Amino acid sequence: MCQVIRVKPDLKKVINKARIANKSIGLVPTMGALHQGHLSLVKMSKSQYDVTITTIFVNPTQFNSKEDLVKYPKTEAADIKKLTDMGCDYVFIPTSKEVYDIKPTLKIDFGYLEHILEGKHRPGHFNGVGLIIMKLFGLVQPTGAYFGQKDLQQFSVITTLIRDFELPINLHLAPIIRENSGLAMSSRNQRLTTTEQESASIIYSTLKQAKNQLLKGVAKELVLKNAIETFNMAEGVKLEYFEIVDAETLQDIGTVSAGDRLALCAAAFVAEVRLIDNIIIEI
Ligand code: PAF
Repeated sequence: MCQVIRVKPDLKKVINKARIANKSIGLVPTMGALHQGHLSLVKMSKSQYDVTITTIFVNPTQFNSKEDLVKYPKTEAADIKKLTDMGCDYVFIPTSKEVYDIKPTLKIDFGYLEHILEGKHRPGHFNGVGLIIMKLFGLVQPTGAYFGQKDLQQFSVITTLIRDFELPINLHLAPIIRENSGLAMSSRNQRLTTTEQESASIIYSTLKQAKNQLLKGVAKELVLKNAIETFNMAEGVKLEYFEIVDAETLQDIGTVSAGDRLALCAAAFVAEVRLIDNIIIEI
């Protein structure tokens, strides 16, 4: 059984016990509504560290839409069962009051990352991510932590935290797990009907279309134009952005040249649900 921890003092006891026994700790931060993507992170952590701790916390400070926060799927009992079946050792499921017993005043500014892609469209989002991740790092003191590639910019933000605060934590980026349709697994998919999920698969198919065109040498501007046109023709899907950026810095690249490592990133609304996806390619 994956042991459920709800309060910080109990978590501290578990962490102290592991540290005294010289055990390495793998952390898998999540917001619950677990799917195969999350479980793949747990599996990786189990293979690399002695103790695996998953956290389930729908972090209010990172939501810039109240509706998105309220409607975020919550499936606690099913999540605990899945973690137990995966052999996860502990799951920390605190309340908002437990986490934010002292109202945070710290503002973390991630520089240019705040003004591009997700940062541009979700003001304040990364400050909230930074706050919760620093809290979880402080509470769990993990040897390593796992994050999914779907939230590629989040990974850059967390890399910045690790680098700038010189935190002794190994960061692991795990590949995106997809439905058969190609749709990237996301807890938010649970808010979509089967038909809407099918419509949402256009996000990945368009990313693939763009990838193939770039690999064939089609100019970036034309690739972007084609992608936007594909979305414009689709029913029930509203594109927010489609961008081709440097895979490392996530910044705009000029002309694409041989050897470039690129991230193709998209965000779109399907029936009010905002979904993101990306592909990394090498030219
Ligand atoms: O990716 C997520 O699910 C969340 O942003 C995270 C990393 C758990 C922080 O709340």
